[in-house]
Amino acid sequence: MRLSDESQQFFMATRVGPPSESAGGAADAAGGSGPYRQGEDGEASMRTKAILFGSDFDAPLPFREVFAREFPELDFRIWPDAGRVEDIEYALIWKIDDGVLRTLPNLRAILALGAGVDQILKDPAFPAHVVLYRLLDAGLAAQMSEYAIHAVLDVHRRMAEYRAQQRRREWRRLDAVHPSERTVGVMGLGVLGADLARKLSVLGFRTIGWSRTPKSLDGVGCFYGEGGMAEFLGRSEITVVLLPLTPETQGIINSKTLRQLPRGAAIVNIARGGHVVEADLLAALDSGHLSRAVLDVFHDEPLADDHPFWTHPRVVVTPHIAAQPIAELAMQQILETLRRLEAGETPMGRVDPAIGY
Ligand code: NAP
Ligand code: GLV
Repeated sequence: MRLSDESQQFFMATRVGPPSESAGGAADAAGGSGPYRQGEDGEASMRTKAILFGSDFDAPLPFREVFAREFPELDFRIWPDAGRVEDIEYALIWKIDDGVLRTLPNLRAILALGAGVDQILKDPAFPAHVVLYRLLDAGLAAQMSEYAIHAVLDVHRRMAEYRAQQRRREWRRLDAVHPSERTVGVMGLGVLGADLARKLSVLGFRTIGWSRTPKSLDGVGCFYGEGGMAEFLGRSEITVVLLPLTPETQGIINSKTLRQLPRGAAIVNIARGGHVVEADLLAALDSGHLSRAVLDVFHDEPLADDHPFWTHPRVVVTPHIAAQPIAELAMQQILETLRRLEAGETPMGRVDPAIGY
């Protein structure tokens, strides 16, 4: 949202200078860095509207620059310098320390800097009355599908075996399987999973998907709910996990579900580490029931130096890079969400904290 020149002049006229220039104002004391207005009694009593940025992943300064231009009426504060907590109406976060959101009495909306929001909802003091919006695609879907297709083709075309043969200078042709004879299963048919399933189907794979509620996607055999899970898993030779991490999906890849996959199956986890019971996955790989695990996400990130995944011959590790929001697309979406909130309209991407996504 751009302010007209007139309203910008008005806005500037109401400024009394940054808190650091004032003598002991409340915002100053609290470490605030933005404008505030003086009340009749000379106290800093009128609230400035502010947005609190919190991320250990995204650099704040490009956001601050864009907000200064697009929402000059919003004071941009970077956690932990929250300033007067009463001013904060919006939080723009990847994640923030547990309990912080609860201390913001006038918080109206939380805008997540990611597609997944488990890292926000895990806060036991998450203020469930505050609306939460997440990123929808923002450049993630194309990258996720690229990553997953690369992993699927690597398994399908037996490239690990050819790499091993090359190391031994061994010239040997291995049997090939036509894609129409290979079943690839996608767990989660949301924004990201549906994009992948469609592309796998176009590549000619027998593609199946699993979701919480019934879905219908061209070229994709759709299963849903607990009732559809055993059949889905029983068919899925290469399984890609693209579920949100919720109380229902925590630890969903475990000894029981891994046993339901066909012998020699492969798994690609590009959602969250919490979906996998790591000891069960290692046991399934060691027993040969699972032929390969391509893992982008882990319980504890970064992955510890001594973690067995690093050196396991059947495991591929990447450092949570399957998809990263494209800054410009994410920014457009965030600005549109704020614009709609300020205009009293309904933004896209609302999360239901009761189901966790
Ligand atoms: P989304 O649009 O919310 O889709 C979630 C899908 O999972 C939906 O199809 C949903 O079913 C299904 N689902 C949820 N709970 C389920 C359950 N209990 N049983 C069966 N299906 C269930 O999410 P998205 O935007 O595609 O993102 C998916 C996840 O990818 C994110 O939550 C995040 O964790 C992860 N991610 C990872 C990276 C990375 O770099 N590794 C990057 C971005 C995102 P319904 O369709 O029935 O609702
Ligand atoms: C990244 O992991 C995201 O959830 O956007």
